[in-house]
Amino acid sequence: MKDLLDQIHTALGGSPDRGNVATYIPELAKVDPGHFGIAVATVDGQVFTAGHADVLFSIQSVSKVFALALALGKVGDALWKRVGREPSGLSFNSLLLLERENGIPRNPFINAGALVATDTYLGESSPREALGQLLRFIRSAADDDTIHINDEVAASEVATCHRNRALAHYLASFGNLHAEVEKVIGTYSHQCAVEMNCRQLALAGRFLINGPGMPRLISSERRRRMAALMMTCGHYDGSGDFAFRAGLPGKSGVGGGILAFAPGRASIAVWSPGLNEYGNSKLGTEAIELLVRETGWSVF
Ligand code: DON
Repeated sequence: MKDLLDQIHTALGGSPDRGNVATYIPELAKVDPGHFGIAVATVDGQVFTAGHADVLFSIQSVSKVFALALALGKVGDALWKRVGREPSGLSFNSLLLLERENGIPRNPFINAGALVATDTYLGESSPREALGQLLRFIRSAADDDTIHINDEVAASEVATCHRNRALAHYLASFGNLHAEVEKVIGTYSHQCAVEMNCRQLALAGRFLINGPGMPRLISSERRRRMAALMMTCGHYDGSGDFAFRAGLPGKSGVGGGILAFAPGRASIAVWSPGLNEYGNSKLGTEAIELLVRETGWSVF
């Protein structure tokens, strides 16, 4: 596996065609697009890495996987009264369907649906308590107490996220946001600002693998359902393309990270900050495609 990751790193790490770094969150615009890291945590307890696998990055929307697990842990299937389970076919921050669909976001991975998930795990508690819960979940999944939130990235998003505020107010107008808008925005922006490196993220993803010795933080049924949502909605309007190329459930973030997993086999984290036209890591997608081609890990 180490040789394969080195080959992938050699094939892609120096690619001139890396996509564009996200600039709408000012702190993310500062990230060097030259980074490329990959890590694979296998079901037998090993971790393999290549490239910049120990450099921290902003996990951004990858956090929506952990947020969904927390929200489901809190209210169970009642969450599905407030958010759907269908791909949206639109960009991650689109406002378009919310009006037509009465304030019920299509799925928990687009921003509108993720704001509902955050509102759900926030409940009546303070943002500090809720974020503490989120960090505890991630830290126990990764078995690493050093994982933290980057406050500068969070502040940068809170100061500029007019679109997410618009989405949150719009959800509130339909009665589908229960806490104060600013509380939800603050919690959500801090959730997105969790920092990890590829090694930590691959370890954190092991709770999705299903194998002996893997952290069991959610039930098998919930794990299967989350996998289905990651496959169908985890890459927004690029989800079909990711399924076609990688054949694995995955979740991308605008910081350039992707968490994917091969059920029963491995958890995979890649990071390259340049994004493709869907806002998903360009080289990250290519790296997972190569990995799956060589390992035969596609679920299809
Ligand atoms: O809410 C936002 O816009 C960001 N905090 C997260 C978006 C994101 O990561 C989309 N993923 N590709």
